[in-house]
Amino acid sequence: MANIVTGIGTSHVPSVGAVIDNGKEQDPYWKPLFDGYQPARDWIQDNMPDVAIVVYNDHASAFGLNLIPTFTLGVAEEFPPADEGYGPRKVPTAVGDPDLAWHLAESLILDEFDMTIANEMSVDHGCTVPLSIMFDKPEQWPCKIIPLCVNVIQYPPPTGKRCFDLGKAIRKAVEAYDKDIKVAIFGTGGMSHQLQGERAGLVNAEFDQSFLDRLTTDPVGLTKIPHVEYMREAGSEGIELVMWLIMRGAMGDDASETYKFYHVPASNTGAGLIVLEDGSQK
Ligand code: DHB
Ligand code: FE
Repeated sequence: MANIVTGIGTSHVPSVGAVIDNGKEQDPYWKPLFDGYQPARDWIQDNMPDVAIVVYNDHASAFGLNLIPTFTLGVAEEFPPADEGYGPRKVPTAVGDPDLAWHLAESLILDEFDMTIANEMSVDHGCTVPLSIMFDKPEQWPCKIIPLCVNVIQYPPPTGKRCFDLGKAIRKAVEAYDKDIKVAIFGTGGMSHQLQGERAGLVNAEFDQSFLDRLTTDPVGLTKIPHVEYMREAGSEGIELVMWLIMRGAMGDDASETYKFYHVPASNTGAGLIVLEDGSQK
């Protein structure tokens, strides 16, 4: 039987990708952030999953306003980095796991989550930056990747509750998969930030830190946060945080926190990182 053993929550700040690509981690501005990432990077090397389901959002790279699927599951053999206007990042092409991905598609759709299925999809910083944060700069990513893309760009995005329930359905699907593999799930994006308008530059460290704490202590309470509260408290792009609730739903009730880190500023956001472990594995 397959198991979801690890949950990672992390911001996906695009400039963090550029810092890693250009070897600037020790610059005074970035060093505190990368010092905070290091324990999680060390931990994952000793706890490497076979497959990572990366829940992320596309930023008008693979999709545009012509096509706005709420939940898209990547079932392809591979997912190349997207060109976001300055050429694709020089990171490895993510190697997929079509067998597990199709199993997930079947289980989720029969469980009444109407997933869009992508046989071809490039992945932008929303997916590649979290991989770089956890795995640094390898020749190939150290595990297979199943991208799960969520619309949080064009209103209306899914609710936190819907995301949490999708996570639970993912857990059920993985546990019904007949191969004996370890699966990690990444919930990415956020934390508080607003990139436009009068409140551009908004960061709310108190909201972010409470969100990080409640991921462990009160995940069900987090599912009750309405969109307008994310907007008000975490800025217009803070809504990316609903994707962390897919990860949290997939981790089950007795998940425990292994590592947590928060740092401001990282470009225009508060940057958070959390590592959760499945309770039944301990
Ligand atoms: C920034 C953060 C994001 O999550 C994003 O998608 C784009 C930009 C930023 O901090 O600049
Ligand atoms: Fe983003």
